Order: sequence, then C-alpha cells, then structure tokens
Amino acid sequence: MTRKVTKAIFPVAGLGTRFLPATKSVPKEIMTLVDRPLVQYAIDEARAAGIKEFIFVTSRGKGALEDYFDHNLTLEQELRKKGKDELLETLESTNMESGAIAYIRQHRALGLGHAVWCARRLIANEPFAVMLPDDVIAAEQPCLQQMVEAYEETGGNMVAAMEVPPEKASSYGVLDVAQDMGSVVSVKGMVEKPKQEEAPSNLAVIGRYILAPSVLRNLSRMKSGAGGEIQLTDAIAEDIGSDNPVYGYRFRGQRFDCGSKAGFLQATVAFALARDDLRDDLSSYLQQVLQSAQAAQ
Ligand code: UTP
Repeated sequence: MTRKVTKAIFPVAGLGTRFLPATKSVPKEIMTLVDRPLVQYAIDEARAAGIKEFIFVTSRGKGALEDYFDHNLTLEQELRKKGKDELLETLESTNMESGAIAYIRQHRALGLGHAVWCARRLIANEPFAVMLPDDVIAAEQPCLQQMVEAYEETGGNMVAAMEVPPEKASSYGVLDVAQDMGSVVSVKGMVEKPKQEEAPSNLAVIGRYILAPSVLRNLSRMKSGAGGEIQLTDAIAEDIGSDNPVYGYRFRGQRFDCGSKAGFLQATVAFALARDDLRDDLSSYLQQVLQSAQAAQ
C-alpha cells in the first residue's frame, strides 16, 4: 500500500525574467488567465487530487501571492451588503484555511531542485507532490488526480510526461524509457536539457511530480547540474534502480507553458473559449482577425 499524498510543494521563487518588465513587481503566478491567477488553477488541481497542505517556496517580492490567499474582509462585507452572492462564492474558493498553507523563503534562486529542498523540513518521511503553477493543464480529470490514481498502483516516484517534437526536447528533462506500458512508462534514465541528438526519447517531463522522500535526501548531497542550477531531474534520476523506481505518466489533457509569452497567450485564448460568457464574442473577433490577416497576404 502506498501512503496517501497530502502535501504539495509549489516552487515559485524563480525570477520570471521572460515576463519582464511585468514581473518586476507582479509575481508571475499572480498573472491572470481570463480572471483567475495562474496559482489558482494549480491550487484547484491540487485540491482535486486530495492535497491538504500547500507549501509555497517564495522569494523577495512575492507578497502579492501571500495576500491572495488571505480573506479580504472589507471586500467580502461590501459584496454581502450588495447581495452579490455569486462573487462572494468565487472569493471563498480562493481563501485558505488557517494552517493549510506555509511559505518558505528560497534566499537565492539556485534552481528548481534547490527550491524543493528548501521545503524539506515540512515534509516528513512521506511522499509529496511538486507542482509548477506556470504549467497549466486543461483536462477533463485534473492532471495531478490522474497521477495520484496511477501512483497508488506503482508507488516510487512519478513525473508527468508528454511527447514533444525532437527539436524541442532540449528545453526539457527527457526520459530514457525502460518499459512502455501505455500511460505509465518505467524509466531507466533522465537527462536535463539534452542536445537534440543526445535526447534518449521525445518524452519530456513537465511540472507535476509525485516524489518519494528519498529525493530530498538526494538533493541534500547535490551539486549544481545543467545551467549551474541544482536540478530536480538529477535528484529524481538518482533514485533509478533503488527501492523507489521512477515512472513517467502520460497524462490526458493539454498543457500550456505559461512561463513563456506564446504559451500564456495560447492558454488565455483556450480558457476564454471554454467559457460560456466569453466564447461567442471572442471567437467572432478571432475569425475577423484571421480573415483580415489572410486578406492582407
Ligand atoms: P523557470 O525555469 O520557469 O524560471 O522555473 P523562472 O525564473 O520562473 O522564469 P524565467 O525563465 O526567468 O522567465 C520553473 C519553476 O521553478 C521555480 C520557478 O518559480 C518556476 O515555478 N524556481 C526556479 C524556483 O522556485 N527557484 C529557482 O531557483 C528556480
């Protein structure tokens, strides 16, 4: 029997340089897809997967992120007075129970692996999830919930994986597959940002993980890897061949890389088109734009 996964780490201490100048004062995770910040999508997905404790690894300038999860009593009173019940409900889903959320500071941006390691004292000897809020996944069944179900069968470590074109593999951690069992693959190697010709497959790791506590011990011994950063991929790869094998999970859903401008814009369009109140206006606008672009060619 595997232990239940009830804690998730959200590493949000990166500099977000691809979104400068916005990220000079606005944390990337607070930027909105339609009307909800990226972090809200991640929290909703975590809750659906049974996560009860939310651990944010933050850094200087992320105050807006901490405020976001507080009750805004003045605003709530005002909405109640005006009988705006629907908006009140929307707000309530953003509040966090006292004690359910913790913030740990990463004092220097030394990489994703280091950010996860910063949360080690809040994880006892138990499995935990890691979620990167800038990977937003549109799916019928939330991605982490799919993974928790698969993990209950496999145990070990599990990383979300998706097929990418060979020329894109060098932007990801890439899996060397031992056995392909369909949605789950067992892994015999992992390479962070390989050169295109050295990528062991086109199965790339994206920002959802369920990890054994041994990965935190591996991180404690870690020196910097690719790009001078302490890589989470390397610490997970160290578990290959141990009692905590590594599996890749091909999730069902569409992933948007909201850490990049193009991905963020695509997600904005996709999430807006999925909304009853926005679909018609937006799709007729998009059609117009495409028609005039074609006419201009
Ligand atoms: P990214 O590689 O997207 O880096 O980090 P970034 O700083 O957020 O953005 P750019 O590349 O400068 O535009 C992936 C995830 O790892 C976290 C980030 O916050 C993001 O969620 N991270 C990265 C940390 O928490 N600490 C680090 O030292 C590095």
